[in-house]
Amino acid sequence: MVSKLDEITERVKSCQKCDLCQTRTNAVPGKGNPNAEIILVGEAPGRNEDKKGEPFVGSAGKRLDEILLDAGINRDDVYITNIVKCRPPSNRIPAKNEEESCLDYINEEISIINPKIVCVMGNTAFNTLLGGKEISKNHGNFVEKDGRTYFVSYHPAATIYNQKLIDELKADFKKLAEFLGDNNKEKLYEERRCDFCMAKTKHEVLVIPKIVTKKRRWLYKCRECNHERWLIPYRTVAESLY
Ligand code: URA
Ligand code: SF4
Repeated sequence: MVSKLDEITERVKSCQKCDLCQTRTNAVPGKGNPNAEIILVGEAPGRNEDKKGEPFVGSAGKRLDEILLDAGINRDDVYITNIVKCRPPSNRIPAKNEEESCLDYINEEISIINPKIVCVMGNTAFNTLLGGKEISKNHGNFVEKDGRTYFVSYHPAATIYNQKLIDELKADFKKLAEFLGDNNKEKLYEERRCDFCMAKTKHEVLVIPKIVTKKRRWLYKCRECNHERWLIPYRTVAESLY
């Protein structure tokens, strides 16, 4: 069955709503997990994205991969898209009329996926979706708008030659990962036998972000006796028999 997101992809690929369609090699639709809890929004495709027809596959994409890995966020779990879906010649900043022509697509992507948070990366996304300016003063902030939660971050490309910005971007993404961890706390349960009271109950599982524990770890809490036990994510065969 063709999903609503697939439909958008097809419309973007053949879109001629602005002049960028004349200079593109490929339009670059959003890509990623349709059930994502985060949508990451960049500016516009660059040379490599234009060649491949996929977002964030060039040097900015490599930087993004590094930042996601560092924050313990899996690229397969997120959805990645851009404000403008076709490459502006020489990677210039998209013009207002180009952003406006393309805006319906991102609004539809956000409403179909309905993520917990939309991360605007860089000034173009910050300005187009939130009317904001000066990423350097606002990065790391959560913003509520029209019942939706947004997170403001630098654009990964801005950090390519700037170690200080890399560190700030990494810290921001850890904050984002923590927000998602907190958000999911109440939801995760797993049935297992308690090591302490031996009752077989649904244990509450808290995924503690790497930022707190160095390694990603899970905390299992028995709902009978409240006994807590730390486990690393990959349980042994013996443990899975409980
Ligand atoms: N920069 C962006 O904003 N988007 C991409 O897809 C690649 C680079
Ligand atoms: Fe269509 Fe957006 Fe590409 Fe313009 S940039 S042609 S509006 S997909």
